[in-house]
Amino acid sequence: MKILVVGSGGREHAMVWALARSPRKPMLYSAPGNAGIESLATCMPIKADDIAGLKAFVQAEKIDMTVVGPEAPLALGIVDEFRTSRLKIFGPTKGAARIEASKVFSKEVMASARILTARAQSFDRVASALAYLDQHELPVVVKADGLAQGKGVVVATTREEARQAVRDSMEHAVFGQAGRRVLIEQFLDGEELTIMAFTDGRTVVPMLPAQDHKRLGDGDAGPNTGGMGAYCPAPLATVALSEGVTKQVLYPAVESLSRMGCPFQGVLYAGLMVVKGIPYVLEFNARMGDPETQVILPLLKTDLLEVIEAVVEHRLDQLTVDWHNETAVCVVMTSGGYPGAYTTGLPIHGLPAATNRGAMVFHAGTRRAGSEVVTAGGRVLGITGCGKTLAEAQAEAYRVTRTISFEGAHYRTDIAHRAFARHA
Ligand SMILES: Nc1ncnc2c1ncn2[C@@H]1O[C@H](COP(=O)(O)OP(=O)(O)O)[C@@H](O)[C@H]1O
Ligand SMILES: [Mg+2]
Repeated sequence: MKILVVGSGGREHAMVWALARSPRKPMLYSAPGNAGIESLATCMPIKADDIAGLKAFVQAEKIDMTVVGPEAPLALGIVDEFRTSRLKIFGPTKGAARIEASKVFSKEVMASARILTARAQSFDRVASALAYLDQHELPVVVKADGLAQGKGVVVATTREEARQAVRDSMEHAVFGQAGRRVLIEQFLDGEELTIMAFTDGRTVVPMLPAQDHKRLGDGDAGPNTGGMGAYCPAPLATVALSEGVTKQVLYPAVESLSRMGCPFQGVLYAGLMVVKGIPYVLEFNARMGDPETQVILPLLKTDLLEVIEAVVEHRLDQLTVDWHNETAVCVVMTSGGYPGAYTTGLPIHGLPAATNRGAMVFHAGTRRAGSEVVTAGGRVLGITGCGKTLAEAQAEAYRVTRTISFEGAHYRTDIAHRAFARHA
């Protein structure tokens, strides 16, 4: 069996890694992949959003299944395009992926499914948005409607900051078309949590709950990033809370999308804010999270390939998905300067030759340059440690992290601190 994984980050490395462990020994391909994925899969220099290029490759190489990592190709309709040509693909259609690609649409789904979320208003005219802001309590959250690579949300503590965010998005078009409409949203004060689920459009199978760390520095200080680390399972998600999210968030969202004529297949990601024990949805994503995937897939006991096939063939109700009774912690190493400007092409030292399930080095922004592996992005590596306890997993992740180096490397030293605080 031949499988293509689309994408080039740490998430995709973790997906390829999980698929490589399948007892069915699939032949793996990735487009475009990275220097870590290369050791497990044949990497093709086709961009993740080059749908025509990907399709031509899949047809020429007779790939049996395509698995989509990032949101951009989903929003462009890669799934619709592949299905039209009878090619098997894991992920939602363009219509269903709007739950991530339009925050306004996502609010409509939540309203129709009666899902708890922050109160919000959408605007497509600057003047009305600014007038509404004048009345709004602070802090207030301004969100670009469309895909903005994680940069489209401003949590404003002053009215001027909020007005600036509206003008940047709507007038100055800093996010292009994606920011032509904005949501102005109530600020929720709580703790964030990620719960993702596999779904075939009917059955929902939640994954273990995870928590990521968006801020650059220890103690959650500094600017927002794509994610500096994660751990799983997150003790914030009690059994009752997780069951509540399955019944009152995930199932209603999936059922609502079906009713709207765009059934969702793939991974539905709920980004939650837990306020006094009650989970509110901040956003939905239409694919796996990064770096959450790097702590969740190492704990998945069931063959990922079996899960993917069950989703694509609409028989998820017949599959039991099992998890290892362990904990995982992922530490992300970034380029100096990230999330601002940074240099690439710096040699990475101390990379282990192979990765086992105890400690895995997932590549995010790397490429091969001759005999060396060099940096090629802001987030460079994600090092995941597994253990019986959170302390063991954390120690293992940091033990391996300390053996790897490149000029200017940065990482947080407190990943999972909230879980330790909760235990204490
Ligand atoms: N209503 C809200 N209240 C408080 N914080 C919020 C709210 N909405 C978003 N945030 C913060 O902004 C981050 C990004 O918002 P999110 O809706 O997840 O958009 P995206 O991931 O597309 O940038 C969240 O992870 C959270 O930290
Ligand atoms: Mg988010």
